Amino acid sequence: MTAGLNFIHQFIPGSSDRTLLVLHGTGGDENEFLPLGREMDPAAALLSPRGQVSENGHLRFFRRLAEGIFDLEDLKRRTDDLADFIGAAARHYGFDVSKLVAVGYSNGANIAASVLLQRPGILRTAIMLRAMAPFEPEPLPDLSGVRAWIAGGKQDVVIAPGETQRLADLLSSAGAEVTAQFFNGGHELTNFELVRAQRWLER
Ligand code: MLT
Repeated sequence: MTAGLNFIHQFIPGSSDRTLLVLHGTGGDENEFLPLGREMDPAAALLSPRGQVSENGHLRFFRRLAEGIFDLEDLKRRTDDLADFIGAAARHYGFDVSKLVAVGYSNGANIAASVLLQRPGILRTAIMLRAMAPFEPEPLPDLSGVRAWIAGGKQDVVIAPGETQRLADLLSSAGAEVTAQFFNGGHELTNFELVRAQRWLER
């Protein structure tokens, strides 16, 4: 096995030079969002790792102490692990990391945000659905050249819209080009926002 390729994952080759890094939410796995990824970009390759933390049998990308309260030590370590995995997967499968687009939902969106903030230079484009600021880096990284699309649910009780806005503000302050949109609905995704995300990606 290539060194660092140490997440169970799916890799589905595509017919364009883009790869979507698909990141599932709590309780999902590497198969959950492959159809969503394929719908978002029919030509892209798909790379979908499985979160390595089990919370009562529900898989996640990092530990939390309670809903919305993260184990920051664990988050830091798992963020490095995922960033290293991305590099190893790019070498192993031969894709161009600069063409990688993260598409994450909930816990998957939060680890994508954490990679952006902790390991700048790995992700240049990210779609984060139902995300919040995972931590507040001091000093802020330089995220100029990064494009981020963030979607919140106006009635989301798991990640309140204000938390999603905080992530958008943090990324903007770091220099990223951020589009944040809030949709009618709770924590569940809606087709409407997925179509919006897809349009943004095509710009
Ligand atoms: C998280 O833990 O990342 C967020 O609270 C969302 C969730 O996965 O439930």
